Amino acid sequence: MAETTSTNNILKLEGKVAIVTGGASGIGEATAHVFANQGARIVVIADIQDELGNQVVASIGTHRCTYFNCDVTNEDQVKHLVQSTVKTYGQLDIMFSNAGIPSLSEQTILELDMTHFDRLIAVNARGMAACVKHAARAMVEKRVRGSIVCTASIAASLGAPHSTDYVMSKHAILGLMRAASMQLAEHGIRVNSVSPNGLATPLTCKMLGMSKEKVQEVYVQCARLKGVVLTPKHIADAVLFLASDDSAFVTGHDLLVDGGFTLPK
Ligand SMILES: NC(=O)c1ccc[n+]([C@@H]2O[C@H](COP(=O)([O-])OP(=O)(O)OC[C@H]3O[C@@H](n4cnc5c(N)ncnc54)[C@H](O)[C@@H]3O)[C@@H](O)[C@H]2O)c1
Repeated sequence: MAETTSTNNILKLEGKVAIVTGGASGIGEATAHVFANQGARIVVIADIQDELGNQVVASIGTHRCTYFNCDVTNEDQVKHLVQSTVKTYGQLDIMFSNAGIPSLSEQTILELDMTHFDRLIAVNARGMAACVKHAARAMVEKRVRGSIVCTASIAASLGAPHSTDYVMSKHAILGLMRAASMQLAEHGIRVNSVSPNGLATPLTCKMLGMSKEKVQEVYVQCARLKGVVLTPKHIADAVLFLASDDSAFVTGHDLLVDGGFTLPK
């Protein structure tokens, strides 16, 4: 009993410096809270929603969390985000590259809108690559054996009846994660991804035009595992595992948090 209590008291991210892209909302917001609760010295929320981002900072506390306006489609802004984090806090230990957007239209390949396609790939794939690149550079330069976690999706492992660009972008994240994990292993830097099933966040509530409760009802049917409703906190806990030393020998891994949805029939 005493052992359990003391294990639970250990903070998994004691003293760590973390960046969370897309941290103003949904999965990123929940992860910023979990990182701070687990002892992170500072959680830098990088997002384009300034008001929401600052609200998250206020709820966590300005001693533990700060907001940085950064559009991940702009490499200079990503570089500036990472460099100013290192300049202010000494190093970067964790990059949670999570910012993403859904398809802008319900297209099949027959109606694929290439302007929408370019916009989505710029955020979900190119933006993710820029975040991994600059986080890795900072870690290599400071000889930090850091952890990089990207948000993929069950759409990275499956096809879909629509949202071709989104499915493509999430497959690209697995490619990015696998290539970067091989290339950075010699530096002791781990790169993994987390792949959520559908869950209620501002992204999906807006996309489906439904309340949080209705969206949860829709997605409950997408999980084999019954009796649990997937929440952002479940994803944040999986990200915590990948970000912390609990996964010290795990790299190049896509951690599905999908209630068995992608299991073969
Ligand atoms: N919600 C789901 O069902 C689900 C399932 C699988 C994967 N995902 C992925 O999880 C990630 C987070 O999504 P969420 O559901 O929490 O959505 P969300 O909309 O609640 O949060 C996404 C955040 O990313 C930010 N963002 C968007 N474009 C950006 C840009 N160019 N630069 C910086 N920040 C930007 C948004 O402002 C927002 O705060 C996304 O990558 C998404 O594809 C979500």
